[in-house]
Amino acid sequence: MNDLARGIFRDRERLTTAFERVLDSGYVVMGPNHNEFQRALAAYLGVKHVLGVASGTDALELAIKTVMPAGRNTVVTAANAGGYTSVAAKHAGFSVRYADVDSESLCVSLETLVPSLTDDVGVVVVTHLYGNLTDVTNLVSYCHNRGIRVVEDCAQAIGATLDGKSAGSFGDIAATSFYPTKNLGAIGDGGAIATSNDEFAAIVAQLRQYGWSTKYRVEIPAGTNSRLDEMQAAFLLARLPLLDGFNERRRDIIERYRAAAAGGPLRVLPALGGHHVGHLAVALTANRDYVRAALLALGVQTDIHFPIPDYAQLGFGSDLQSLATTDRISKEILSLPCFPELTDEEIQQVCGAIESLK
Ligand SMILES: Cc1ncc(COP(=O)(O)O)c(C=O)c1O
Repeated sequence: MNDLARGIFRDRERLTTAFERVLDSGYVVMGPNHNEFQRALAAYLGVKHVLGVASGTDALELAIKTVMPAGRNTVVTAANAGGYTSVAAKHAGFSVRYADVDSESLCVSLETLVPSLTDDVGVVVVTHLYGNLTDVTNLVSYCHNRGIRVVEDCAQAIGATLDGKSAGSFGDIAATSFYPTKNLGAIGDGGAIATSNDEFAAIVAQLRQYGWSTKYRVEIPAGTNSRLDEMQAAFLLARLPLLDGFNERRRDIIERYRAAAAGGPLRVLPALGGHHVGHLAVALTANRDYVRAALLALGVQTDIHFPIPDYAQLGFGSDLQSLATTDRISKEILSLPCFPELTDEEIQQVCGAIESLK
């Protein structure tokens, strides 16, 4: 499904240079690489502020804490996005309610959200799932008219653009992850928050360092330690210029799978256009166990992103909620290998295996 070593070996020279730059600087946290990466990513995304944090889950938690309006306590999100928002919102002390997803985009939409948006809701988290920047323009204005803030989860969609705007620049604030399998991956954990709101950026800057206003002076509650270290910032800075090329390659891989699947039992979701960065090559089939076994017999691994809706997770206190589209797709989705370092021969092998299903 993935082979991280290939990307590391390919980028070895630029990563080594970055590594040496950090050692030479003598800074280990909140130093020049961190600051430069924040600036570079903010420019890339077209937002005023980027703040590095320790992971994508921390980014979600801090973003939710920052924008939750006073007097409200509920976060609404999709239940098919791996549970990261649920972990973050619950850790922040808020309740989570799930909205169903659109059957084409597999992301929440204004229509699927509206039934959940009661007066206690303060935050909606929109996950741009699988790399697909879902259009949140109408959703953001609808939410703002009701005093609800919108957090974009861009962990799978960094670099996606719609009408000249980047994923992460549509809502009030955005969270992203640099987990190594992400389109922009570190050599360890990392995450970031993006916003153009000065007040929110100032709050995040405090929350990620114990709630400090200045050193040793705790000004706001619920702070934590969540910093992006110099080493990861330097690696990410070295890789950022490669991101658009990687995203193009991912889209291309998915389109080749789609062509191979045409007319067969697998429906590969499209990834054409700048609004999609092909984080995962996802297909739907009513016959998943059979298809997975047939592909595996031809040497093609698959995975499922994600097999259990959040509301059915034991650890989240499964509340027997049921959402029709979310339930159905959790039984039909499967992911095919998709990472930029796949060779043309390997892509061809996957295409051949897909064609053999017809
Ligand atoms: C959509 C989404 N949100 C959040 C996260 C959490 O990021 P992290 O693993 O860096 O905590 C991930 C991936 O891991 C993700 O895919």
